[in-house]
Amino acid sequence: MDRNAAERRIAQLCAEIRRHDHLYYVLDRPEITDAEFDLLYRELVQLEQEHPELVTPDSPTRRVGGAPLDKFEQVTHRIPMLSLENAFTDGDIAEFDARVKRVLGLSATEEIAYVCEPKMDGLAVELVYENGSLAVGSTRGDGFVGENVTQNLKTVKSIPLRLECAHPPALLEVRGEVYLPLEAFQRLNVQREEDGEPPFANPRNAAAGSIRQLDPRIAARRPLAIFCYAPGEVRGAAFASQTEFLDTMRQWGLPVNPLVRRVTGVEGVLSFYREMTDRRDTLPYEIDGVVVKVDSFSLQRELGEKSRSPRWAVAVKFPPRQAVTVIEDIVPSVGRTGVITPTANLRPVEVSGVTVSRATLHNWEEMERKDIRIGDTVVIERAGDVIPAVVRVLTEKRAGSERFLPIPAACPECGSEVVKIPDEVAVRCMGLSCPAQIRESIIHFASRNAMDMEGLGEKYIEQLLRLGLVGNVADLYTLTRDDFMKFDRMGDKLAENLLNAIEASKRRELSRFIFALGIRHVGEHTARLLATAFGSIDNLARATEAELLSIREIGPQVARSITTFFHNEGNRETIRRMVEAGVEPTVEEKKVGGRFTGKTFVFTGALTRFSRSEAQKMVENEGGHAAGSVSKKTDYVVAGAEAGSKLDKARQLGVTVLTEDGFLQMLEGEQ
Ligand code: IVH
Repeated sequence: MDRNAAERRIAQLCAEIRRHDHLYYVLDRPEITDAEFDLLYRELVQLEQEHPELVTPDSPTRRVGGAPLDKFEQVTHRIPMLSLENAFTDGDIAEFDARVKRVLGLSATEEIAYVCEPKMDGLAVELVYENGSLAVGSTRGDGFVGENVTQNLKTVKSIPLRLECAHPPALLEVRGEVYLPLEAFQRLNVQREEDGEPPFANPRNAAAGSIRQLDPRIAARRPLAIFCYAPGEVRGAAFASQTEFLDTMRQWGLPVNPLVRRVTGVEGVLSFYREMTDRRDTLPYEIDGVVVKVDSFSLQRELGEKSRSPRWAVAVKFPPRQAVTVIEDIVPSVGRTGVITPTANLRPVEVSGVTVSRATLHNWEEMERKDIRIGDTVVIERAGDVIPAVVRVLTEKRAGSERFLPIPAACPECGSEVVKIPDEVAVRCMGLSCPAQIRESIIHFASRNAMDMEGLGEKYIEQLLRLGLVGNVADLYTLTRDDFMKFDRMGDKLAENLLNAIEASKRRELSRFIFALGIRHVGEHTARLLATAFGSIDNLARATEAELLSIREIGPQVARSITTFFHNEGNRETIRRMVEAGVEPTVEEKKVGGRFTGKTFVFTGALTRFSRSEAQKMVENEGGHAAGSVSKKTDYVVAGAEAGSKLDKARQLGVTVLTEDGFLQMLEGEQ
């Protein structure tokens, strides 16, 4: 390919890859399969290798480019990154609102428009876009001077390296919070334990620890994400309000939290705060409160700042997720993969509405590092549904009678040999039929996020095991009413319910089934990726390592773990028995690989054969995308009667125009 053609193709590929990254990481609405994406990416890598002079710094291949640094350079923020004043009670919120009104000279009855945002518990950063390209990314530091962590921030896939905007402003500084989703945090800690590294106490530390690494490959391996929430200095664009600013950021391809809401007055703020308090435990990331901002930028300017915080915003904090309590005992417990984890039995303590009586101590190395002993007074922290962890020991509270629990000589459940594998911090029970491993794998299989066998919890599963009615997960599907009636205190109705719950689980989504199998390193997120990519358990079982690796987000370790799992004859037999018993996982709606994959449709004019939302559904079911306005990216415009400007624009741009019937024919595959 000559240089000119290469240059054009590179520009095309960059644009396409950027668009697909945005669809995948920001909008969660992929239009092509990972394999198709991979082809584009590899073509770009190849062309850039042939023409290194054509590589631009914002090329998608430059996400992980740099060599490890010796140290971070300092970056002075053009506008200091302020912090926020905290509020804790409804009264504090009312007081904040009253003060805003007082300073603005408003009467008590006039209401202020506020923007309410979840307060992300991560690491504050600033992204600097010069003429639309990401030039510098830095940490907040002390608010005035931060560290230049550009290389690491470039690895955050949802941060665009170039703004999606035809005429970008000369300068856009945008602030946001980098965070690690909870599921990734849990997975990372499991991984770290296996790699012999200390786990992170909370997702905030994990995010900060990843961004403050000198070697960018480390951040690249972690699925960090960002939500943008405030402007720094901006030249060549202007925003009248926080709402307009956030909307524009969204349009330009920067992630903005979808929960953000514009409300009116104290009442609006309170109801948002209550709603977030309720939803806190179900969000896939950690938040520690809500941030309330006066929407209008001119009112913000009028209100001004105090020395370190603005008068136009306040952080309403949730009750802390930390508490102080005493470790009454430490018990080794065996997990479903045989790993023996020291677990602390705590004097029960309430942590943000939940009574906590256990915490994970992860492993013995970690216990030694933090010098955690039975009888210690400790600070514990819980994040979302993640098992609480011990943050630190309050050594000043020691009485001298505290004692350290050594690694057990034998498995506390089956007495088998216990082995500490070199290079792993984990201590493992080597018993192949260790009852604890079997119990844990069945509990996991039946649990809410897996096969969701309602009512079939730990207690019943233990009875099933004790009575010898189950030996592995496939046996659950052979249980009869008589089996359950052997339980203590079991009635007809309850037995019926349990059987129904097992029956209902036969038609769970494929992703749940994959997750339920308990394959090492395959959490819920990975299970979803696998379900979408392979569409059936048979296909997944047959997948080669290379095929698995072609899926974005799946690395060699996960790929190997999956193939090892399916090569195991025992596992294959268990799956076969379940399928024979009628387990038939359902397949999620096809997002990719449909007839319209990668195609954008615009519907306009009066539609008579279907409604606009039906049309949108039809397009999405086939992997396409329905947009509101016509642009160069539009593939088809479907025009009903009296179509106006959108139809004109389509003709002007040479976009294919279809009638409703034409569209339906295409949907049926007749065109
Ligand atoms: S606005 C001047 N919005 O909270 C206003 N901050 O205590 C600057 N944070 O350092 C911050 N989510 O790390 C803002 N939606 C949000 C936020 C948020 C989290 C953090 C940020 C900041 C700290 C202030």
